[in-house]
Amino acid sequence: MSDHQPVHLQEYQPPAYQVSHTELTFDLDPAATRVSARLDMTRHPEAASDAPLFLHGEYLTLHSLALDGTVLDEGDYRLVEGGLEIARVPERFVLESVVEIAPCENTALEGLYQSSGMYCTQCEAEGFRRITYYPDRPDVMATFKVTVIGDKAKSPVLLANGNPVERGELDGGRHFVTWEDPHPKPSYLFALVAGELYKVEDGFTTQSGRDVTLQIWVEEENLDKTAHAMASLKRAMRWDEETYGREYDLDLFMIVAVNDFNMGAMENKGLNIFNSAAVLTHPHTATDQAFQRVESIVAHEYFHNWSGNRVTCRDWFQLSLKEGFTVFRDQCFSADVNSAPVKRIEDVAFFRTAQFAEDAGPTAHPVRPDHYIEITNFYTLTIYEKGAEVVRMLCNLIGAEAFRRGSDLYFERFDGQAVTIEDFVACMAEVSGADLTQFMRWYAQAGTPEIDAYGEYDYVHGEYRLTLRQRTPATPGQPFKKPLHIPVRLGLVGTKSGQDLRLTLAGESLGTDGVIHLREEEQTFVFTEVAEAPVPSLLRDFSAPVKLHFPYSREELAFLLTHDSDGFNRWDAGQRLAMLALDDLIAAHRNGVEKVMDSRVVEAFRLLLTTPMEDKAVLAEMLTLPSEAYIAEQQPLVDVDAIHAAREFVRQSLALALRDEFLALYEDNQSQEAYAPTPEQIGQRSVKNVALAYLMAIDDDQGLAYCQAQFDANHNMTDVRQALTLLVHSEHNHLAAPALKAFGEKWAHDPLVMDQWFTIQVTRPQSDALERVEHLMQHPAFSLKNPNKVRALIGAFAQNRINFHRLDGKGYALLADVVIELNRLNPDVAARMLTPLTRWQRFDDARQALMRQALERIKAEPLSANVYEVIEKALA
Ligand code: ARG
Ligand code: ZN
Repeated sequence: MSDHQPVHLQEYQPPAYQVSHTELTFDLDPAATRVSARLDMTRHPEAASDAPLFLHGEYLTLHSLALDGTVLDEGDYRLVEGGLEIARVPERFVLESVVEIAPCENTALEGLYQSSGMYCTQCEAEGFRRITYYPDRPDVMATFKVTVIGDKAKSPVLLANGNPVERGELDGGRHFVTWEDPHPKPSYLFALVAGELYKVEDGFTTQSGRDVTLQIWVEEENLDKTAHAMASLKRAMRWDEETYGREYDLDLFMIVAVNDFNMGAMENKGLNIFNSAAVLTHPHTATDQAFQRVESIVAHEYFHNWSGNRVTCRDWFQLSLKEGFTVFRDQCFSADVNSAPVKRIEDVAFFRTAQFAEDAGPTAHPVRPDHYIEITNFYTLTIYEKGAEVVRMLCNLIGAEAFRRGSDLYFERFDGQAVTIEDFVACMAEVSGADLTQFMRWYAQAGTPEIDAYGEYDYVHGEYRLTLRQRTPATPGQPFKKPLHIPVRLGLVGTKSGQDLRLTLAGESLGTDGVIHLREEEQTFVFTEVAEAPVPSLLRDFSAPVKLHFPYSREELAFLLTHDSDGFNRWDAGQRLAMLALDDLIAAHRNGVEKVMDSRVVEAFRLLLTTPMEDKAVLAEMLTLPSEAYIAEQQPLVDVDAIHAAREFVRQSLALALRDEFLALYEDNQSQEAYAPTPEQIGQRSVKNVALAYLMAIDDDQGLAYCQAQFDANHNMTDVRQALTLLVHSEHNHLAAPALKAFGEKWAHDPLVMDQWFTIQVTRPQSDALERVEHLMQHPAFSLKNPNKVRALIGAFAQNRINFHRLDGKGYALLADVVIELNRLNPDVAARMLTPLTRWQRFDDARQALMRQALERIKAEPLSANVYEVIEKALA
């Protein structure tokens, strides 16, 4: 589109015409696919009788159009920007169209496109309009009947939503399959897949006794990589029955793996389409992290069948209605089937790094935005992850039992409808009686709220007075913020007993682990009958998506690290303690003063390493320092080099001081068991590999020998990848080079492993990382047309902070070149890759100038709406 106009939530109008039934026929051809559509349409009862009919359509070549069987001429309709308009139509009518599209030219990967020779679709949010003329909006829901015609040899498998009802042979070596989906759905849930695919099949019996066939469709060489996804799917189906009372509603559920995909996966009704990286696993090719990611994405897409498909969004401003809720659901699922504290720690560590950065930057937006230019730009951490945190707060506010009644009510009341965030929250208010008026501000206000907390113990009266002050910084378009309703879960840990003390607030007992509600700008909570001086443990389990500041001393943090009954806050105390030490070292580095390691951090780590801990994955998290990106988030102005130097110094100091303990930890967690992605094994591998990383930080001979042996043993990808990464990120080039070469040759045929091979190389801290990127962009396994490759090479390099932020500006220039190229090929991915450059305000003057220069260079190009919107905000 040329003029890039914003759409506003306030301007929402119900559609003038509904589609009750949609019939489509696809005659597949790479360069000239014919799409015939037959739409049964009805005027909305409240629409004016002379309301024109508007159908979205982009990149379509119109062959014919007929209304109630009469062919329309060019005078009867108008082709307009973004679609087609017919001035007058009857109250009920049948509209038939034939268009032609070119899947092989579709590099944007929206609509119908080709991936590794197969046909597939991605319609959310507005891709269906690249397939046929249609009211392509989520509040238009129809039943679908779809016939797919393809070449028998090239496309032996023809899939669409719902159930197959007819199939047959046609002339010229072609065949067809007809599919029917009885559940009314919006166009964004439409899907079609055709190609040479192979399936793995399994079954599931629902709680009411219905048998469902489960299929995972892949390329032949990937048939041995589907078992984990299938097992995850069955676990997710059972979990949704047990936890939400939600059953699957078709006889067939299909997952297809495709190599070229803009995001993780898509919940198309009955036919989920997945990025192959989000579904394929094998112990030899996928890490533990990948196994867990597959499990959570399979569950996420499956859960959408209710939270998204049966009940969908009225408009795209409501995107978090389905995404926030569904992420919350998949997080709870993963917590239930794995280590719950580790799941929370991982999610929050990521959230506080990436979402906080988004909320603090020029593209900050509320969980429910009120305007956008390109909706694809709003598939963000704020909509997904902050949206999930908001749903989590709701659940904690009204309690799990009421939350379940609220979700039952929501699914029953709105089944088959396209609704709003208010509708969802109203159900929760109705079942619980809670007043959620103020709470709704979480959906409307952007920015991360900050709480300044201060506590005082009164020995004489046995009182603890806790004062909380909240403020939310201004964000673009929102200079002033109102106070939010913030649930703060807390405990008071007695300094003598080391136990959680009983909480009594205004005469009411909150047990030993309670929630207080901060609603005003400032509030003081007086806890009475506090028998001993406590250390407060605040925001337990990260009870609200906020930054909490409390003037903890290092001794208090060390105390919480060992005594807090909340696992999440034990971890967080360690992170806070490390941050205080890091702050000192960053200052020392900047001032050119000698760096001295804080012995309290060393002793805290020694204690961790010598105290047996049952959940090894938690131990691994506790031994992991805050990432450079997280540290940067905490600084008023990001000093890339000082952060890197300080963090390296802490890593090396810890490794030197605790070398024997790390060695013992490594040796004690060697396992000869056959690989399984169980929480126990994953925990063991995590601590072992954390220990190895510390040993490799100090060039320890024994550590190096273990690292090489771990690579050579070739036991599973988790261990191999960690060993290879540590070698490549070390100065031992003579060991790294042959290992890299062997790995690259061994896996040349496997794109998902080659992605890892790219990432390992371009994330190394040595100063040649950028040259390696340039070199690898010429590698035959690399392609700018494949989003996974772009992320693995370019995206990963942009996370390599010291090298991406090189002072000669070459890192920025390289990214700008890639964005300019991608802007033509794939605007969605181009706009996403741009993110690191939009954060320029956070850096020093020299880097700011270089980053802006890169942005200006992009701005001078003819831009897609996606990139245009991000650039405008970044340079505003
Ligand atoms: N609804 C999908 C999910 O969260 C993501 C949408 C994918 N969009 C895209 N442009 N590829 O599961
Ligand atoms: Zn989703």
